[in-house]
Amino acid sequence: MRIGILGSGLMGGKLGTIWARAGHDVVFSYSRSEKKLERLARDAGGNARAGTPAEAAKDANALLLAVHWSRIDDVFKKAGNLSGKVIVSCSLPMNDSDTDLLVAHKSSGAEKLARKRPKARIVSAFNTVPSEVFFSVFENRSRDPRPSLVYCGDDKKAKDVAVQLIRDVGFEPVDAGPLRIARYTEPFALLVAQLAYEGDRGPAMAYRFEWFEERNA
Ligand SMILES: NC(=O)c1ccc[n+]([C@@H]2O[C@H](COP(=O)([O-])OP(=O)(O)OC[C@H]3O[C@@H](n4cnc5c(N)ncnc54)[C@H](OP(=O)(O)O)[C@@H]3O)[C@@H](O)[C@H]2O)c1
Repeated sequence: MRIGILGSGLMGGKLGTIWARAGHDVVFSYSRSEKKLERLARDAGGNARAGTPAEAAKDANALLLAVHWSRIDDVFKKAGNLSGKVIVSCSLPMNDSDTDLLVAHKSSGAEKLARKRPKARIVSAFNTVPSEVFFSVFENRSRDPRPSLVYCGDDKKAKDVAVQLIRDVGFEPVDAGPLRIARYTEPFALLVAQLAYEGDRGPAMAYRFEWFEERNA
């Protein structure tokens, strides 16, 4: 796939690097430093390059939206027409001090994004895991069981793309349902962040869901 990274920080930098190493064409965009984008592309290897958000969006099969909530309008404006584009969003609707969700309970950041760009195909994924785990999950991708990663969305094509990208990183995708389920996954992401950053084990965690079925003897 051709993947445009909108926001090349902790999330975008790591996920873009992994997808380039998994064989995708990746364009890193949206940083305050052009040099950083070029370094990311060089270090990622494969078919990675630096570009503008408009270049990242052009001909992209998938876009990763990985900016702070306060930067969404700016990056969308710079990316241009996103009609029909698959947008995998890991952005959480956080306030400026990153202490609270600005949208919750009766809606979600993901649903708000879908209203901002109604012709884009939005799927919410990757925000329930600290970015620090991505490289070790990728390195251990052939091991079983894989850690789970929940995603949700209303668009089948976008969800199919997300499933491939989630598997490429080394997670087992767990379909949480329609986009409105982001009302529950986004607060869940804060629980994971709390455990990852405030606990004494550090951020090196990724959860795994297991089904407990009643078995007949
Ligand atoms: N980090 C995590 O573990 C994690 C986990 C779950 C969800 N999330 C969510 O994922 C999203 C991205 O998080 P992140 O940690 O990757 O953020 P980040 O490291 O701050 O990356 C954001 C990117 O946006 C760029 N940017 C910021 N202001 C800009 C401006 N004025 N002009 C151009 N570029 C600008 C930054 O540029 P620079 O390169 O110059 O800094 C950086 O590349 C957020 O919504 C966050 O809530 C993050």
